[in-house]
Order: sequence, then C-alpha cells, then structure tokens
Amino acid sequence: MKLITKASVAFALVLSTSIANADVAKSEKHAQKSTELRQSIFSLLGSNMGPLGGMAKGKIDFDVKAIEKHALRINQLSYMIADYTRTDTSTFNVKTDTLNKVWQETDLFAEKIKALNESSANLMKVAKTGDEGAIKKAIGGVGKSCGGCHDDFKKD
Ligand code: HEC
Repeated sequence: MKLITKASVAFALVLSTSIANADVAKSEKHAQKSTELRQSIFSLLGSNMGPLGGMAKGKIDFDVKAIEKHALRINQLSYMIADYTRTDTSTFNVKTDTLNKVWQETDLFAEKIKALNESSANLMKVAKTGDEGAIKKAIGGVGKSCGGCHDDFKKD
C-alpha cells in the first residue's frame, strides 16, 4: 500500500514537471509580457551585432576592445535565449515575428542557440589575437548563426 502511494506521488511529480516545462502562456497578459521579454533579448543581440557588422564592413573604425565587449555580451545573451523563449505564446494574439515552430521543433531551435553560443565564443577567442582578417571572418560567423536561426524560426 505504501509503495503504491509513493509511486503515484512520483508519477504526479513527473507529470507536473513536464507540464511546467511546456510553459504555455496562461493569459493574454502573460503572453504579452513573455513576448516583450523574448523580443528584448533579440533586440539586445541586434544592438551588439550592429557595431560588429559596421566594423566588419569598414563603416566604423576597427576597435578590438569593443569587439571583445560585444562578443562577450552576445555570448552571455545566447545563454538566456532558451529561458526567454520558453513560454509558448502561440495561442494568443500577440504581435510577434516568432514562428510557432519554436515551441514544436525544440531540438532544432536548441541547435541554433548552440551555434550562436559557439560562434560568439569563437569571436571572443579570435579577437584576442588582434588579427583583423581573422576577426572579420569570425564576425561573419556570428552573423551567419543569427541568420541561420531567423531562416527557420522568424517571420521574414
Ligand atoms: C535561436 C534563434 C535565434 C538566434 C540565434 C538569433 N535570433 Fe534574432 N530573432 C529570433 C526570433 C524567433 C525573433 C522574433 C522575436 C519575436 O518577434 O518574438 C528574432 C528577432 C530578432 C530581432 C528583432 C527584435 C525585436 O525587437 O522584435 C533582431 C534585431 C534580431 N533578432 C537580431 C538577432 C541577431 C543580431 C542575432 C545574432 C547575434 C540573432 N538575432 C540571433 C531568433 C533568433
């Protein structure tokens, strides 16, 4: 008898954990807030990529210290993407460019996050060498991992 009770408690725990992991927005307000937070992460990624792109194209002065700073921030932000995109807002009418696939093809989405994590870590490493050509190539690698996710998971 005691065993059965323990087993059912364990089962209930597993069940509630998997529901918590799915994290579907509970109300319009929750969906709205989650969408704002999600877009904030990407907005910050954009603000750090802007100067990197400008330097890679020679539009702004090359500055290794600034490159290191932006690469580090992009790397740190990459660790936050999973958490801030977890809440499924697809059943609510929120203004978003996120495709519903984000909450369906979670393995592929995780791969895209990993690609950004790795390309930004690579840029951090290459920046330390001061080699302008190699740094520009590494910036291109970061840009590619942004676009690689957008192609699959963001509206055009
Ligand atoms: C793992 C997937 C993924 C990666 C990697 C990614 N993005 Fe995005 N990005 C998205 C999605 C999804 C949206 C749509 C967000 C929304 O509207 O809900 C988005 C939106 C944006 C936006 C618009 C934000 C806004 O205010 O609505 C910008 C800017 C952006 N991304 C820049 C970048 C840059 C720069 C990088 C690389 C440094 C990057 N993203 C990497 C998935 C990704």
